[in-house]
Amino acid sequence: MSEMTGTEALARATRRLAAAGVEGPERDARILLAHALGVDRGRLLLALPAPLPAEALERFEAAVSARAARQPVAQITGQRLFRGLRLKVTPDVLDPRPETETLVEVALAAPFGRVLDLGTGSGAILLALLAERPGATGLGIDISDAALAVARENAEVLGLAQRAAFRRADWWEGVEGRFDLIVSNPPYIAAEEVARLAPETRDWEPRQALTPGADALAAYRVIAAGAPAHLAPGGRLIVETGAGQAEAVAGILAGAGLMRARIVKDLDGRGRVVEVRSVA
Ligand SMILES: C[S@@+](CC[C@H](N)C(=O)[O-])C[C@H]1O[C@@H](n2cnc3c(N)ncnc32)[C@H](O)[C@@H]1O
Repeated sequence: MSEMTGTEALARATRRLAAAGVEGPERDARILLAHALGVDRGRLLLALPAPLPAEALERFEAAVSARAARQPVAQITGQRLFRGLRLKVTPDVLDPRPETETLVEVALAAPFGRVLDLGTGSGAILLALLAERPGATGLGIDISDAALAVARENAEVLGLAQRAAFRRADWWEGVEGRFDLIVSNPPYIAAEEVARLAPETRDWEPRQALTPGADALAAYRVIAAGAPAHLAPGGRLIVETGAGQAEAVAGILAGAGLMRARIVKDLDGRGRVVEVRSVA
């Protein structure tokens, strides 16, 4: 046992994280302490008055140092809950964001059998869709082999590996056939904006997950150009967009001959998802 109680360790960590400029330092310290102790956050209260086991204190201090260096909590704990699925998260994948659940909801509002996820990252979108549609199968593509390894592991752990294939591709390159549903949350931050992002994102998340280069909308242009040849008749393409980009992205998709562009607002009332249909 160490000399320090959970309460003392928590107070010290909270001060350290606040000094490092972390938003919500006490919340993060609690998550990291629960992780170091291997208990649910709900049970943390019970553990606080007792001296911390030495190994737990060591794990906690390493985690707090990482957080003080602004590593995202999900990378430190190695996991993120996304639509109820526990996903593995590493520095090789984007930490799936709550707003991306809006895209999943829009996708689930109509039936589909075969789905393509362009830029799958951790596999979050594809796996959430397959988990809720037991008859569906899907393909996730990504430019990053390291991200694909995480997506495959997530599929395996969630028991979805039989219905989810993952392949390395530069957007449409090598993608064959037609899909009822194509989804994508592509990189949409202009390269020059990256320096202004929070350190958690700028310094720790994969650059190719954040920016497609100088033109923030470049990935949408490539996705729009390839979609008509890969959508089944009546199939849907649904993309997430950056704040303030939805109208421009709807225009790009309509310009590629895709129909009935619909902008869907996220939980905060901002248009962040665009849905279109194939012409047929
Ligand atoms: C914003 S992240 C989205 C990850 C995941 N779909 C999610 O929503 O959490 C964008 C993903 O697109 C991938 N990507 C970037 N450029 C790509 C390209 N040229 N071809 C395929 N995937 C690409 C990145 O590696 C990254 O995993």
